[in-house]
Amino acid sequence: MKTASPFLELDTAAPQGTVWFDGAPLDLPLGANLAAALLAAGVAVFRHTPATGAPRGPFCMMGACFDCLVEIDGVARQACMLEVADGLRITRPRGGGGQR
Ligand code: FES
Repeated sequence: MKTASPFLELDTAAPQGTVWFDGAPLDLPLGANLAAALLAAGVAVFRHTPATGAPRGPFCMMGACFDCLVEIDGVARQACMLEVADGLRITRPRGGGGQR
């Protein structure tokens, strides 16, 4: 499932894998930066802040801001520090993405 996005995949011939974001399947290029691939697929909100519930998405793309936190296998991870792998099950972190 691809949605409208202002971001484009540069390598459209890359092999694709299926990841699941909040239960929705997305075909993403294997080995691509996960945050960039999710943005290109139309995912803009990766988490919500615990204080106000404000939406957050990738900002720095270098591991500094933590606005790209997602939950994979029950662990909050920075999507900009990960690569796309087939079968990833990704959810928006509960409680804003902090430690539980
Ligand atoms: S986008 Fe800033 S830490 Fe990932």
